[in-house]
Amino acid sequence: MQHIILCGGSGTRLWPLSNRHTPKQLLPLFEGRSLLQLTYLRNSAACSGVMAIASEQQADVIAEQLLDAGASARRIAEPVGRNTAAAIALAAFIAEPEEVLLITPSDHLIGTPDIYEATIASARQLAEAGYLVTIGLRPAYPETGYGYIHYDGHDVIRFVEKPDAANAVRMLESGDYLWNSGIFCSKASVMLDELKQYAPEIYAASQRAAEELVRTGRISLAAMEAIPSNSIDYAVMEKSHRVKVVPSTMQWSDVGSYEALTEALMERYQYSNQQAVFIESNPRNSMVIGKEKLVALVGVDNMVVVDTPGALLIMQKGKGQEIKQLHNWVKENR
Ligand code: GDD
Ligand code: MG
Repeated sequence: MQHIILCGGSGTRLWPLSNRHTPKQLLPLFEGRSLLQLTYLRNSAACSGVMAIASEQQADVIAEQLLDAGASARRIAEPVGRNTAAAIALAAFIAEPEEVLLITPSDHLIGTPDIYEATIASARQLAEAGYLVTIGLRPAYPETGYGYIHYDGHDVIRFVEKPDAANAVRMLESGDYLWNSGIFCSKASVMLDELKQYAPEIYAASQRAAEELVRTGRISLAAMEAIPSNSIDYAVMEKSHRVKVVPSTMQWSDVGSYEALTEALMERYQYSNQQAVFIESNPRNSMVIGKEKLVALVGVDNMVVVDTPGALLIMQKGKGQEIKQLHNWVKENR
């Protein structure tokens, strides 16, 4: 099995900790490891090779980080991002057709390694039998930024990407849906068949870009721009009849907000706020991230304080979804 790591994140929701140049998957937040490195390490025993697909600007840092974690990864550098369908198509064209690909995001945190390994082993079996497999998780709240899977055992009745709020509530309450984790497993040939059938333009343009990569060692901007931009979820997962799901109880977070990051750091990594003092406030409810100076909190609770050389963020917990907007404002005005 080949591990394909998708590494194209833009880093808007954890500003100022992450930004365009250092997206969240590259920050060494987890006992010195980054989410990218943890992603590699979590899969290195089950996979015989690893391929990272990332933007040209980040390809070197990514290769360094992977090497540091013990991987000699094959790289595909994208001159411009064309979303996950293109990234996955390129990887599938480069891989051997009969090889099983384990396609993972680079920015998720997964606890419970035993459950994860068992989940991936089941996914691999279904992939070897010719299915396009996704990992499903029990939904916890009506998130509108995820995909939902109407399921029955391993069968997928319907895949719904990023529903509106009302539909998200309905699907959550029905109990018949799982969240899509964004981790996929299939033979390269199966993925390409489905792309060819449901996204023929992405298939054809990706094939040309992959041929160029093999011929010249790189993908030109023109070849990349010729690939229509779409996510694999809209392009293939919502349409394909070959999708199976492996429901999993693994502990999973896409670390999509400061609330999620705080929870992960505090619970899983017993992160101590070494640079912080708390007086008349509960250190368990607040989080200070930063290493330059001592930060003191007096009589305030439920705070996230992020101290970086370029900016200081003070945020009440629960407001994490507003960071994206704030980041946009900073981009335009500063
Ligand atoms: N190389 C490359 N190029 N990688 C990319 C690109 C690209 O153009 N665009 C996105 N990625 C990477 C991201 O870095 C991330 O690791 C992964 O692909 C998924 O992309 P996201 O942009 O984070 O997708 P999403 O969070 O909106 O939705 C997906 O993940 C959800 C779970 O976190 C979907 O699969 C949903 O269905 C799913 O619920
Ligand atoms: Mg995501």
